[in-house]
Amino acid sequence: MSGAAAPMKTDGLTLLVAGGAGFIGSNFVRHILGEHADWRLVNVDKLTYAGNLANLADVAGSPRYRFHRTDICDAGEIARIFAEEKPDAVVNFAAETHVDRSIDDPGLFLRTNILGTQVLMDAARKAGVARYLQISTDEVYGSLGPTGRFSEDSPLRPNSPYAASKTAADLLVRAYFKTYGLPAFITRCSNNYGPYQFPEKLIPFFVTLLHEGKPVPVYGDGMNVRDWIHVDDHSRAVEAVLLRGRPGEIYNVGGGNERTNMEITKLLLAAMGKGESSMKFVPDRPGHDRRYAIDDTKIRTGLGVAPKVSFDEGLRATVRWYLENEPWWHAVKSGEYQSFYDRWYVRKDRV
Ligand code: NAD
Ligand code: TYD
Repeated sequence: MSGAAAPMKTDGLTLLVAGGAGFIGSNFVRHILGEHADWRLVNVDKLTYAGNLANLADVAGSPRYRFHRTDICDAGEIARIFAEEKPDAVVNFAAETHVDRSIDDPGLFLRTNILGTQVLMDAARKAGVARYLQISTDEVYGSLGPTGRFSEDSPLRPNSPYAASKTAADLLVRAYFKTYGLPAFITRCSNNYGPYQFPEKLIPFFVTLLHEGKPVPVYGDGMNVRDWIHVDDHSRAVEAVLLRGRPGEIYNVGGGNERTNMEITKLLLAAMGKGESSMKFVPDRPGHDRRYAIDDTKIRTGLGVAPKVSFDEGLRATVRWYLENEPWWHAVKSGEYQSFYDRWYVRKDRV
């Protein structure tokens, strides 16, 4: 992709974030409200099983924050929100995100991840927003052998329905830039970890299982490799692309932390004071990508963005966070979190 767009005005910006009640979105919302005292933030989220208003309890009362419980596939509601809120820029985190769930129900992933992106971009185009940022994933590039890294020019070879739906959305973003001149760009990040991650993903799943005295299920031989990045480093990268990125471009974001699942599992067993008897090998995930690794030269040299959080410290802090926030993940595992919307926004009895 290529092309230029007028610089974005950043004073008093209204930023619409889709999917801001999920793991990365909620960390990003908190980051932006903290960094930009004159920005308004409008969060549009359907609150699927992965959306949790407790993730934003500390910012929900801010006069600079608005929440709309809306499906991004609902074109009428999205148009109404754009007319009411008049966003200057949009960041789209909203998606179905769990590979295992995409294997069970691909249709849901195609609807939200592809059609939802189209609906948001149509609204963004009609409203004439200054920037549209699509949050994508390194999984669009498929799987690597033992060597090499993904660059922005690597071929798109998704292997799961989740990755295929994110790839299709990325291609739509490209088409909207080329066809309509939507000032859109894409970030493709590696595996995130940190607070507020839904405990179905590797790290919080394993920490919470071990805390409950249950064994952790390692898929296949445990030698699959992921490149882990702390969610705060991802938030900083997204902010930099929004402010200084070039529309039409794609930016890879990585942590420079390649670990096998066995390495992660052993670190978590040690952190939780458990032995290897608390680990069991289970049948492999179908189509399981072997290795992801990111070449982030473009964002590093072009925008001066590099991860700051060391993996050892980040993982220690993350394990500590889950141990200190047991009520948060208990509410998630019990399903209680799904009543927060009614309590906070319908009955308005939040204290
Ligand atoms: P998540 O599953 O924790 O949160 C997704 C959020 O989107 C939830 O709040 C959910 O309610 C909302 N949502 C889902 N469907 C919706 C719909 N139809 N309308 C409105 N809202 C809807 O996901 P996450 O891990 O925070 O990931 C956020 C984004 O980052 C996704 O686009 C994902 O593909 C991408 N990403 C994630 C990772 C990772 O490691 N978690 C890595 C790279 C990229
Ligand atoms: P996950 O957190 O689901 O992220 P992704 O599939 O998007 O990379 O999984 C990370 C790695 O951990 C992946 O290789 C699959 C593996 N895994 C397990 O071995 N056991 C589990 O229970 C889970 C959830 C994941």
